[in-house]
Amino acid sequence: MPAEYYYTFDDILITPAYSDIESRQEIDTSVDFLGLPLKLPIISANMDYITGPRMLTTMYNLGGLGILHRFAPWEVIKEDIITLYEKEAIPIIFSVGIRDLKESMEHIKEVSPFVYGVCIDVAHGHHQKVATLIEMIKGSVDESISELKVIAGNVATIDGTDFLYQSGADAVKVGIGAGSVCTTRTIAGVGVPQLSAILECAAFAEENKIPIIADGGIRHSGDVAKAIAAGANIVMIGNLFAGTEETPGETFFLNNKQFKRYRGQASFGSNGDRYVKEGIDGVVPAKGPVAPILGQIQAGLRSSMSYVGARTIDEFQVKAKFVEVSSHTLMENSTRVTEVILDAE
Ligand code: XMP
Repeated sequence: MPAEYYYTFDDILITPAYSDIESRQEIDTSVDFLGLPLKLPIISANMDYITGPRMLTTMYNLGGLGILHRFAPWEVIKEDIITLYEKEAIPIIFSVGIRDLKESMEHIKEVSPFVYGVCIDVAHGHHQKVATLIEMIKGSVDESISELKVIAGNVATIDGTDFLYQSGADAVKVGIGAGSVCTTRTIAGVGVPQLSAILECAAFAEENKIPIIADGGIRHSGDVAKAIAAGANIVMIGNLFAGTEETPGETFFLNNKQFKRYRGQASFGSNGDRYVKEGIDGVVPAKGPVAPILGQIQAGLRSSMSYVGARTIDEFQVKAKFVEVSSHTLMENSTRVTEVILDAE
């Protein structure tokens, strides 16, 4: 059922509930995503300054997952995939667009023996060409192609999720305009507040046994907990990982401080000859390795699960309840100290 009101992360809180958990170490954040056992329901975004081969490998080794971005010449991407396949025993998921379906299929064919899955990555995934491409993959006579796991997106409605599910997608990516470097909502006035988008799409997905990826808008571990509590099977993150050592791109100095680039994907919003930018391009402070950030996310998620008395993600999704909050709560949520902050998250 569509919601009456549409909420984003700051509009709600998870209510605490009875618990008999003695230690947060009892809490298990692991999930199965498309047949892959993961210690953490986190996936790094398929963006050019987030997931290249190094981030993909690190994410998997730390218990999460990554999807290679598609914003490089195909020959470079193909070489990266083959090198990864030869050197690392990890599931590789790569991305394709829908500009030229014949070309996308050719790319898929060239790497299908080396990859676990493909992500059809489109700003507006509720699109006939996405369905056609899924059908081309799933209907291929080449089993190395037809058996690939297909992640498709992005959508933000029940109809969009249903559309991709009916087309044969194995997982659906949910989120329109919620990303930290997105301007879709400003430019086009289009989007669905992310918490409600997750709630609606996840309710549909749960009934139909298809996982969803909550993509975009995560600012801290509490948002990850809310997205998972709302029914997401896994959460895609760009901004929180931007600037880490494992992201592609050089570290450089600005005013004696170290930075790395992070940007919305230039091809978002491109539509044939028409080109409308729906993302910003900027720099973020260099952050060091991604491992401590993932550690904080896991600790935050465990903490949230302990507050509702859940030992597993499945239990968390059943037990977690939300309350709607007023904008004044936002002020109460944040720290309001005083003279000097000695330590913070
Ligand atoms: P965060 O908030 O983690 O979000 O930085 C990452 C997600 O943002 C999406 N994305 C875009 N959306 N215009 C958009 O409307 C863009 O240029 C753009 N670039 C990335 C994408 O879903 C990503 O995973």
